[in-house]
Amino acid sequence: MKKIFGVLFCLMAGQAAANDCNVTIEATDSMKYNMAEINVPASCGDVTLTLKHVGSLPRNVMGHNWVLTKAADATAVQNASMAAGLANEYVPAGSPKVLAATKVIGGGQVDTITFNVADLKGQDLSFFCSFPGHWAIMKGKLTVS
Ligand code: CO
Repeated sequence: MKKIFGVLFCLMAGQAAANDCNVTIEATDSMKYNMAEINVPASCGDVTLTLKHVGSLPRNVMGHNWVLTKAADATAVQNASMAAGLANEYVPAGSPKVLAATKVIGGGQVDTITFNVADLKGQDLSFFCSFPGHWAIMKGKLTVS
């Protein structure tokens, strides 16, 4: 009996920790994310982020991605995204300013990425959709505590 409780406790503890390190963010046909702030503990190490497009418009019309940069780098990455184009997921290829990025997805699609936050603790971080024109509205802050 003791053993069973021990196993249950481990499963529950593991699940709680995993949930803190798993983030799901939704994006809509009306050009919005469903959250403007994401908080994750640095102790996660790797964070898994899932972007869900809950609308129905195709990715070339109302595509959304989720891009993470230092706040100070956001404008430079946004300005470079147009030149990168949809073929490059609206992300400048190989840019060290891009800390993490999903693909550009359309309605009904999902993309999941994993990135490490151990070195991002306490930094001023921005997330946004880099589809041209979207980042003015589709943006928020990631806090690694
Ligand atoms: Co978008």
